Amino acid sequence: MKKDTFYITTPIYYPNAEPHLGHAYTTLLCDAATRYRRLVGTESYFLTGTDENTEKVVEAAEKAGKEPRQYLSEVVAAFKELYAQLHISYDQFIQTSDETVHWPGAIEMWKRLEENGDIYKGTYEGLYCVGCETFLTEKELVDGTCPDHGTKPQVLSEENYFFRLSAYTKSVREIIEKDEIHITPASRRNELLALLDRGLEDVSFSRPAKAVAWGIPVPGDDSQKMYVWVDALTNYITALGFGRGEELMHFWPGMHVVGKDILRFHAAIWPAMLLSAGLPLPRAIFVHGMIISGGQKMSKSLGNVISPFELVARYGTDATRYLLLRHVHPFDDTDITWEKLDEWYTAHLVNGYGNLVARVMKLAEVHLEGPVEVPEKQGFPGEYTDAIECFAFNEALDYVWKRIGDLDERIAEEKPYKVVKEDALKGREMIREAVRELYAITSMLEPHMPDTSTLVKKTILENKKPENLFPRL
Ligand code: ME8
Ligand code: MG
Repeated sequence: MKKDTFYITTPIYYPNAEPHLGHAYTTLLCDAATRYRRLVGTESYFLTGTDENTEKVVEAAEKAGKEPRQYLSEVVAAFKELYAQLHISYDQFIQTSDETVHWPGAIEMWKRLEENGDIYKGTYEGLYCVGCETFLTEKELVDGTCPDHGTKPQVLSEENYFFRLSAYTKSVREIIEKDEIHITPASRRNELLALLDRGLEDVSFSRPAKAVAWGIPVPGDDSQKMYVWVDALTNYITALGFGRGEELMHFWPGMHVVGKDILRFHAAIWPAMLLSAGLPLPRAIFVHGMIISGGQKMSKSLGNVISPFELVARYGTDATRYLLLRHVHPFDDTDITWEKLDEWYTAHLVNGYGNLVARVMKLAEVHLEGPVEVPEKQGFPGEYTDAIECFAFNEALDYVWKRIGDLDERIAEEKPYKVVKEDALKGREMIREAVRELYAITSMLEPHMPDTSTLVKKTILENKKPENLFPRL
């Protein structure tokens, strides 16, 4: 990646159910980060998509009584609808069942691993969880079931191709240690280092074609299909044209945003694959915690999912973006309840920012002769940019809300609405000052609440009071 470009990716999600809040959250983080980068003038590229070469799609389609292709297109449409509702400004939506866009690069990756001597045939004997699409060890089970899905893993004994992951333990460890792949937060980096200290075992990288209906055939051996994670991880470069022209490859290396559930794949297996294939390593991996609900991880299989569509329906696009970006902690797990969301919406948006905008712009409309001059290019303070650059969107917003509170207080104390009646010159200057501060505040909201920010800026430039921004619930 050229120094002045920014490439960011979400995980590609499994399209075996409607998108859930966790998917919305990760994608929103990437969207806010990209909008910020574009705002400060960096050439940016934002990738998202779906991980389709999985048995889960076939199973879910069967359950729904639909053909897999039909089912898939409906779920993908739901993801795209959600992204439209949340105003996600992705540049590309990759689907890994796309044989034109994705398969050539996945096959090229496999060939490179093989040419480098890192693929060998062996017999896999062990446990497999289709929910995770992962091989599990006995130690990882809780009462004989997968800790994430609560289901019994399949007992497998089959011929597979293996990837010599063990050979890369040392180099991956050094890379993480030296921060060549910058992992945020540091606690996740330490977790990974501990894992690497225990050593990595070789991993099965294919499944017999007869056992899996979907998947990319192993080059030169049609009886095997690539293990879904092998092709899934490769999406981050096939999307840029790897294996078919490379027209966007100047964006690589980029940064990955993932939930903590898939850290190991991104920070151990993927770097090892890239090393083996002779490709540059990702610059950074940002790892966020899980949104939980009622004390438990929200998951399709546990059935305690709060739908992101319900959030948008209740609060609207920008308020939903705000609530998730400010109140889901970027590093730790966050428990979400409707009560808390309602409370934040009313306190911060209705009575906070929304009220401030109405108050200031009413004063401006009534007492000023015309629009206040605002800077053509709004600079951002360090407290704000530092927070955003390390993905602490919550802290960036804490800072903005501090400025909102301060401005509110200043107006309450200085009472420009009174002063303007006694000393027009002085009162008007106080109001202009308030409008300029409102403009600075509003500019900082652009990555988080793009429509609201644009609208309020417009009303400032036209010197009029906007419509009610955040209706009471
Ligand atoms: O793992 N809270 O797909 P997936 C926060 N296809 N984020 C959550 C979440 C929650 N409760 N639940 C899910 C896969 N996520 C693979 C990825 S990438 C090459 C392949 C988010 O549908 C979070 O980003 O299970 C998590 O890492 C991801 O969705 C897992 O999505
Ligand atoms: Mg999952």
